[in-house]
Amino acid sequence: MSMAPKPSDKRPDTALYERRESRVRSYARAMPREFTSASGPWMLDSNGGRYLDFLAGCSSLNYGHNHPGLKAALLDYIEHDGITHGLDLHTEAKAAFLGALEEVILRPRGLDYRAMFTGPTGTNAVEAAIKLARKVTGREMVIAFTNGFHGMTLGALACTGNAGKRGGAGVPLSHVAHEPYDGYYGPDVDTAELLDQRLSDPSSGLDAPAAILVETVQGEGGLNVASPEWLRKIAVIAKEHGALLIVDDIQAGCGRTGGFFSFEDMGFTPDIVTMAKSLSGMGLPLALTLFRPEYDIWGPGEHNGTFRGNNHAFVTAAAALRRFWADPRFGEDVRRRGELLRQKLEEIARKHGLSTRGRGMMRGLDVGSGEIASAITTAAFARGLIIETSGAHDEIVKVLAPLTIEDDVFAGGLDILATCVDEALSAASSSAASLCVAAE
Ligand SMILES: Cc1ncc(COP(=O)(O)O)c(C=O)c1O
Repeated sequence: MSMAPKPSDKRPDTALYERRESRVRSYARAMPREFTSASGPWMLDSNGGRYLDFLAGCSSLNYGHNHPGLKAALLDYIEHDGITHGLDLHTEAKAAFLGALEEVILRPRGLDYRAMFTGPTGTNAVEAAIKLARKVTGREMVIAFTNGFHGMTLGALACTGNAGKRGGAGVPLSHVAHEPYDGYYGPDVDTAELLDQRLSDPSSGLDAPAAILVETVQGEGGLNVASPEWLRKIAVIAKEHGALLIVDDIQAGCGRTGGFFSFEDMGFTPDIVTMAKSLSGMGLPLALTLFRPEYDIWGPGEHNGTFRGNNHAFVTAAAALRRFWADPRFGEDVRRRGELLRQKLEEIARKHGLSTRGRGMMRGLDVGSGEIASAITTAAFARGLIIETSGAHDEIVKVLAPLTIEDDVFAGGLDILATCVDEALSAASSSAASLCVAAE
């Protein structure tokens, strides 16, 4: 029999965190426990509680926590005094990663990209991507999309739609136009055609763009999915209007949608791709900007950073690429599991007249309001299921389970989710009914 979650109902003493850690912390508020260890899809807390992780480091732990094969590779490397920090020096660990990237990922997909190691998190990869596009084209303006999320540093934040996050900048966020994403005006309006029209009209007020920056599935923005046809049109529009196409694959990549890249088999090739999150395979920070070799016009050190390329992350990333991606059966299994997820979410949605969103193993339920979504995730946590929300109003309950989760454990977690949706929706309808009675 497979394990089930067993949450602890004791809250740890959080006085130290409240006294010393910034108020900016967020996930810790929704999950007030102290976590001590983790393995696969499970996280343990300091009071012996066991939680099933359907957040997976916001898709940074696609292969689960502390995968034994990746952990063994890292322990062995450390044991032999492998280089930990090497600026951007050539190291054995970097060569192992670049070799695996070339052999396992790029060549089999017919892709020819140069790899640029940026500062360690996703937003650094986005900064490098838009900087490079501006440098290559000599243009300033970047087109990003409604509900897009690209990171917290100023350039990437300017490309992000969310007003709350933008508000933190404290300065104007400029040189970006936010155009409607696929489906923004409903299924009958082709927003790619609108974009083409605006870019083709010398009087539209839209400056010629350096880049079009797009997520194929908007992870933070509410699991909105762009269709392959729309994305192909965007690729053509970028080319026709002299802009570089940047696919931000930081959340949707590394297998989350079934292929290593989320745009695979869609019939277009981005000029630039950004990656981070699950790239290291073990949750270690590693970010990468890939681009066509002809755009590699950087001067040495022109885009610099002390932590470009984390050697420990190179070790686990190389191990992850070889272990999971050298064999096509891994991707097939992720796609199969993504179908199980789709079926289960559709069953829940049908029962309550809700709708589902997403693709592959990044899917969720639109429950209509942030309040209801929060009631669901709170109830889920009380039952030992870690799950979060996304979307403009935090109205999407988002399942980001590890891609490697066993089917029965996955099904168990989805059953907990179904129960929490039942409860939250019946509580919401009975409180609405009592409000009506009170108003009468
Ligand atoms: C699509 C996308 N781009 C960029 C980022 C920023 O990555 P990081 O938080 O590692 O800076 C995120 C983070 O959620 C993301 O989902």
